[in-house]
Amino acid sequence: MKLGQKDFLGIDRFTTDELRGILELAKEQKPLARAHKLPHTHPNRTLACVFAKPSLRTRVSFEIAMQQLGGNSLFITDKEIGMGTRESVYDVAKVLSRFVDGIMIRWFDQGEVNELAEHATVPVINGLTDLLHPCQVMGDILTIEEHLGSIENKTVVMVGDGNNLANSWLNAARRFPFNFVLACPEGYEPDEAIMAAAENDSASFCIMNNPHDAIEGADVVYSDAFYSMGQEEEAKKRRADFAPFQITPDLLKGAKDKHIVLHCLPAHRGEEITDSVMDGPHSAVFDEAENRLHIQRAIIALLVK
Ligand code: CP
Ligand code: NVA
Repeated sequence: MKLGQKDFLGIDRFTTDELRGILELAKEQKPLARAHKLPHTHPNRTLACVFAKPSLRTRVSFEIAMQQLGGNSLFITDKEIGMGTRESVYDVAKVLSRFVDGIMIRWFDQGEVNELAEHATVPVINGLTDLLHPCQVMGDILTIEEHLGSIENKTVVMVGDGNNLANSWLNAARRFPFNFVLACPEGYEPDEAIMAAAENDSASFCIMNNPHDAIEGADVVYSDAFYSMGQEEEAKKRRADFAPFQITPDLLKGAKDKHIVLHCLPAHRGEEITDSVMDGPHSAVFDEAENRLHIQRAIIALLVK
């Protein structure tokens, strides 16, 4: 399969068939990778992993994915690069493209990542920005399909912030026929342009303020931190505003009997989610973490030459 885009910047940039192709390749490769039998399709290729924010899952899964394909990875932080400060985004794009075969970047501003991708001649993969976290949601769809079958007609209820994850779920709802519900406090809604695009594409979504109403009939209950990386100064206010949005065993009573609970992690146990839910019988959070590896390896395999 060929992808119509050089870069993986957002789920909305791909067709449903292309996204389905990524998911199917991940499903095909997963058992081979687990058995250490994955063919080395990318020997001598290097992926630069650029980070302006901390990471466990994204860093480890991208680096391991590249090694499993027979290639190498390079970890570098923005402290060294100074993209946009020490030198321009354009120059970083041109220079990195001479050294490596792909760039994965975790950054603040989505616009700068788009600019990097525009000027790079190698694929650029979005490893999270303030606006989007597309690899996470693709891995989450993989996890949902492994546990519950096709995402078609499922109801995914996110309880929490209208953040980069909520925005990426909205983009996913523009391409796959499932229902997305976000329960958030007033004033914490997702990005307006993304909501407008979702409406324009007739995506099935709904933003609510009451988590108990929102969770009715959920197949998937989704959690994320009350404050994201870069919002640490707002932590106190957000903890108060989001207090009624904690995922507890009581809240889960409204979900379907066979629901699963996902959290992109890192979790603040006892804050947005209780230990009893994280470690409970419906939790699939560690399958979800593992699937970052499998989905991203498929994305690399399809994008990196
Ligand atoms: N879920 C996720 O992206 O985790 P990290 O921040 O640890 O990479
Ligand atoms: N919304 C969170 C996701 C972390 C994986 C953040 O941006 O920090």
